[in-house]
Amino acid sequence: MALSVATLKRSFAQDACDITAPKSDAQAAVAAHGIKHLAIIMDGNGRWAKCRNLPRLAGHKAGTDNLHRILRACKEQGIRIVTLYAFSTENWNRPQEEVNGLLKLLELSIEKELGELHKEGVQIRHIGRTDRIPPALCEKIRHAVAYTRNNTSLILNVALNYGGRAEIVDAVKRMLADGLDPNYVDEATVSRYLYTSDLPDPDLIIRTSGEYRVSNFLIWQGAYAEYYVTDVLWPDFDERELHKAIEHYNKRERRFGGLKAR
Ligand code: FPP
Repeated sequence: MALSVATLKRSFAQDACDITAPKSDAQAAVAAHGIKHLAIIMDGNGRWAKCRNLPRLAGHKAGTDNLHRILRACKEQGIRIVTLYAFSTENWNRPQEEVNGLLKLLELSIEKELGELHKEGVQIRHIGRTDRIPPALCEKIRHAVAYTRNNTSLILNVALNYGGRAEIVDAVKRMLADGLDPNYVDEATVSRYLYTSDLPDPDLIIRTSGEYRVSNFLIWQGAYAEYYVTDVLWPDFDERELHKAIEHYNKRERRFGGLKAR
């Protein structure tokens, strides 16, 4: 079964994006001393579709729809930065039909969600290279980023055509182009040259669908992140699953290479 653009458009039109739900003091308190930056590897869309005898693209569509409730839940938890791995530099190696479908999904979701996200104060950012992104999608991203740039309630980083190694290569190139003195290059300098330069490193990286891999995602920024892997496939990863991940995180003791505080 092929999933046409018209079908995708229709089903987007039926969805509602509401990340406005009020957050309780208790929920805010949990996250306030915890997770500032949450990053997610949204894996398992293909398997989700396969289980239902649907085309892979239907899984990606379900995965995209899942973002509403997850962003809403993040906001409720007081998480202020969310980074989503939407399309990696390696994803270009997938069949052309899937690549085109995924890129179209991204374009349609920006088109449909931008107004609501803006109303909710979400600042959209893009991390990744722009070189291979089709011009129409590139323009939508550029517009979404410019349109929401003064928003402050939640920063949503969309990692698209993103690779952690490519990001480091780009940082090194820019450092060289800027003529930096090697004697003054330290870890803080490198961090400043990454796509995420002004943001704190992720506290928690969630990977759905059970694979224990980093997959070239935030490899510098994730050096001290807590990882949480669940077997749940991304389209099924709901608020309850997010709360479980946060509970896990809250139980862990982050030592950043040091010793337990006495
Ligand atoms: C991995 O599942 C998922 C992807 C490669 C794409 C994820 C992208 C989205 C959910 C769209 C995001 C949209 C926006 C607007 C940010 P897989 O296909 O590798 O699953 P499998 O391992 O089961 O085959």
